Amino acid sequence: MQKIKFNSSKVISSRLIYGCMRIAGDNTPADKTKGKLALRTALEVGYTHFDHADIYGAGHCESLFGELLTELKQETPDIREQLIITSKAGIRPDPQRYDFSADYLTTSVENSLKRLNVDYLDMFLLHRPDYLFNAEQVAQTFEQLKASGKVKHFGVSNFSPSQLSLLQSALDKPLLVNQIEINIHNISSLTDGSLDQCQQLGITPIAWCPLGGVVYPAWGNTFSKADEQRIAAELARQAELYNCSTWQLILAWLLKHPANICPIIGSTTPERIVAAKQALSIVYNHADWYRLLEARNGYPQP
Ligand SMILES: NC(=O)c1ccc[n+]([C@@H]2O[C@H](COP(=O)([O-])OP(=O)(O)OC[C@H]3O[C@@H](n4cnc5c(N)ncnc54)[C@H](OP(=O)(O)O)[C@@H]3O)[C@@H](O)[C@H]2O)c1
Repeated sequence: MQKIKFNSSKVISSRLIYGCMRIAGDNTPADKTKGKLALRTALEVGYTHFDHADIYGAGHCESLFGELLTELKQETPDIREQLIITSKAGIRPDPQRYDFSADYLTTSVENSLKRLNVDYLDMFLLHRPDYLFNAEQVAQTFEQLKASGKVKHFGVSNFSPSQLSLLQSALDKPLLVNQIEINIHNISSLTDGSLDQCQQLGITPIAWCPLGGVVYPAWGNTFSKADEQRIAAELARQAELYNCSTWQLILAWLLKHPANICPIIGSTTPERIVAAKQALSIVYNHADWYRLLEARNGYPQP
């Protein structure tokens, strides 16, 4: 598995991150067994970075990971230190809103640590921007979380470039990542400055739902049947050319970007978790990258 270093930190992550949003399923014994198998498969084939959030499966995903970690510690006592464990908070239920208050974020981190059965998070991300956030106050919360040893590094998720700049201006350490939706449907990061900012500041863009719009409808899907057919035809042409699956090409399309996008793989199917790695060895042609973009857009590049 390729590795990538995050900004000026010592954090070294697998290039593909394993996403834990779906691992608990409906939290039935069968779903939990499936989730543990997915996690074990990811570990075996070199994923070292696991992405969580306090809200995934209403906490069950973190708890399942914590259960597995307890089992794994019997076999490999220093397993925790070999992993990058990221969690997120800031989306608050009842009523649903975004909340970056010190109390809420600190309690969320503490609850995540308990569920995950760890003493610290390698990275803590603000899940979605709280429009009412005060950068200085968030900076203080980060300092306290770091001083307490509960969090080593910080990042953001779904932040616009200006929101990221605002928060960064109040921090004395660099943010390591911005976790955003990037897939063939949602390409706004190509033009809204997000990927440019990441390159400029050395921040790693992490792509959530990387296969959205191809293997399942993207969030807020606007693709028509005609769009889907055009994209599928170009993907099929390229899949033959590169001797791989269409969904692996979609990952390669993200990996090609010079901002060093790290896709989060969310499949719970062992074969797919393993096969995703093949995308890392596809030498993707510049012209084909644009042909897929054209198929997605439905018009030639001007
Ligand atoms: N920051 C945020 O706001 C945010 C939002 C959403 C997600 N995330 C993170 O991003 C991670 C990845 O998101 P995701 O799970 O949506 O990612 P994904 O890897 O794009 O999608 C995974 C889903 O696609 C299915 N799938 C994968 N390959 C397939 C194929 N070839 N054919 C048919 N179905 C296929 C999987 O089914 P199987 O399980 O059956 O293989 C699974 O349901 C999450 O786990 C979470 O950590 C972050």
